[in-house]
Amino acid sequence: MTDEEGDGELEARLVEQETFEPSEEFVEQANVSDESIYEEFEENWPRSWTRAADLLDWETEYSQVLDESNGPFYEWFADGTLNASYNCVDRHVESGDKNRVAIKWEGEHGETRTYTYQDLYREVNEFAASLRDLGVEEDDVVTMYMPMVPELPIAMLACARIGAPHSVVFAGFSADALATRMNSADSRYLITCDGYYRRGDPLDHLEKANEGLEGVDHGVDATVVVDRLGDDGFGHDLKGNQHDWDDLMADHQGDRVDPVERDAEDMLFLMYTSGTTGEPKGVKHTTGGYLAYTTWTSHAVLDLKPEDTYWCSADIGWITGHSYIVYGPLSLGTTTVMYEGTPDFPERDRLWEIVEKYAVDVFYTAPTAIRAFMKWGSEYPERHDLSSLRLLGTVGEPINPRAWKWYYQHIGDEECPIVDTWWQTETGGMMVTTLPGVGTMKPGSAGPPLPGIDAKVVDTAGEEVEAGRAGYLTVEKPWPGMLRTLYQNDDRFVQEYWQEYSDPDADEWVYFPEDGAKIDEDGYITILGRVDDVLNVSGHRLGTMEIESAIVGVEGVAEAAVVGGDHEVKGEAVYAYVILEDGYEGTEEMREAIIEGVEDGIGPIARPEQVIFTPELPKTRSGKIMRRLLEEIANGEELGDTTTLRNPDIVTEIQGKVQR
Ligand code: WTA
Repeated sequence: MTDEEGDGELEARLVEQETFEPSEEFVEQANVSDESIYEEFEENWPRSWTRAADLLDWETEYSQVLDESNGPFYEWFADGTLNASYNCVDRHVESGDKNRVAIKWEGEHGETRTYTYQDLYREVNEFAASLRDLGVEEDDVVTMYMPMVPELPIAMLACARIGAPHSVVFAGFSADALATRMNSADSRYLITCDGYYRRGDPLDHLEKANEGLEGVDHGVDATVVVDRLGDDGFGHDLKGNQHDWDDLMADHQGDRVDPVERDAEDMLFLMYTSGTTGEPKGVKHTTGGYLAYTTWTSHAVLDLKPEDTYWCSADIGWITGHSYIVYGPLSLGTTTVMYEGTPDFPERDRLWEIVEKYAVDVFYTAPTAIRAFMKWGSEYPERHDLSSLRLLGTVGEPINPRAWKWYYQHIGDEECPIVDTWWQTETGGMMVTTLPGVGTMKPGSAGPPLPGIDAKVVDTAGEEVEAGRAGYLTVEKPWPGMLRTLYQNDDRFVQEYWQEYSDPDADEWVYFPEDGAKIDEDGYITILGRVDDVLNVSGHRLGTMEIESAIVGVEGVAEAAVVGGDHEVKGEAVYAYVILEDGYEGTEEMREAIIEGVEDGIGPIARPEQVIFTPELPKTRSGKIMRRLLEEIANGEELGDTTTLRNPDIVTEIQGKVQR
């Protein structure tokens, strides 16, 4: 499909249009519609953040909003106490909304489960009692390695109830990745699942989980296994310390567990994410600040109301699912939709079928999905009545104006505002985006920083760049949803995020998210992508070092360099340049072994698009691999300067090997 044909679906007037306004109808009903909110936050900062904290029920009120005495180890609402499970479940039951639907779950085959807040209350309590029974104590890290089944949010909330931080590992990650994360968090408990369905077939998940458990260095006290597949299961017997979810729940039927009073700064969960080095980083989020922040942004940006049906199509295994499938929406008492399967099974209209079926009001997805929808064509959404939609959102990567406009026209019927939300695992929640009831939308630009968020675009010296110039995104003031540290690694926390632009001697701390950006004359920020060695493949964050070390682990591989090449749907795709040891050849088998090595080390999401065998990598005289060149080669671009190379001839040789 050429660009022109693609644009044919977009009416000419939309192609030209650079700004969009929310409709009057939307603004009238919006949770936040007064522009003065920006000023209010600025003038009263940090006290303005009580606005977010006030959306929660506190057991003990905090006396101080922000404690800045030990930057960058900031504390928010520090002497307050609360419980996240109480806020996401009990308070809605107590306020008379027990029969409102909390979770609508849709299985891949169209099987459905509905949990009211009362149902959720019962299940969370029973599972909390089960966890206690298994020996889980406050502050023990419980790992979850689960697909999109309702037991996942139930287990998360049960952990929150007893003050045991959870660490959810995306189900698509490999056994090795699970083991690494359990080891790093010293986690002795695992909640997992026998399997799940993918494109009609049952998939064995427990085998992978068991393999992962073998790689855990310390003792594992208990594993809980959800039976998702029933008769389609793979017949694994549960071992000595493995328990069946349903049996545990039956044993604890009707049990109630009082929500544990947690300090605001107590850890709610850990989430591992990729960075520049091979070791994933254990991002620590806390109870008060994180919950206040995700609740506030769900209210102000997603415009969620208790009576809404809201659907975020992400996986709970990533931060987007934590913040905007589980904590934010449930804290507000909304109905949150969970879908087990893929967007194109059984057909490419699966998501629109679900939107119609549940009359979804607010829909939040990733640009990679939108690019796939665009490619498939507008006939699929056209099969369904999508008129229930009020607001659309995107997250995870930059969205190009064409995809934005397609989403606006074909999914939102030119009625729904779109929020393009920039944020990260580390930020806990949305940071840069328009407020849908306030701001003008500019396709391709995420928007201004949210009220109270001090994001800037600076040059290498830390000076703000002029409008239109590229620079680096930074955040100067702390915010409640920020990560507090990297698990048991305060030094790395400071090094990774607070090094470049801070002045420790002056006690001035600036957060560096490692994204490039530019800003326009209206203060709208366009994100240009990562400036570290992290790739964004289909909205998934992957470290090139992690992929390289998986490849180098394959027998016969001497050296590997991984870069991202442009990809129409995935955004970026993995290109692996590989040098083999003497005596090994770049055969089809070798290529497969490398792909398998990556799938085993990380997971299928990191699978290389192309493996390019080469006798040498382009290196500078000082021996540094020139990744920029490798990217240009992957993209078939004209090459930049090669004169500093020690081995310039290798470039043409490699170019010839990349498939176009
Ligand atoms: C990228 C996902 C452009 C960015 C919530 C960031 C975006 C990384 C956007 C974090 C956006 C996220 N526009 N780029 N709206 N949202 N990113 O930790 O590079 O999985 O640093 O968190 O995704 O990815 P993470």
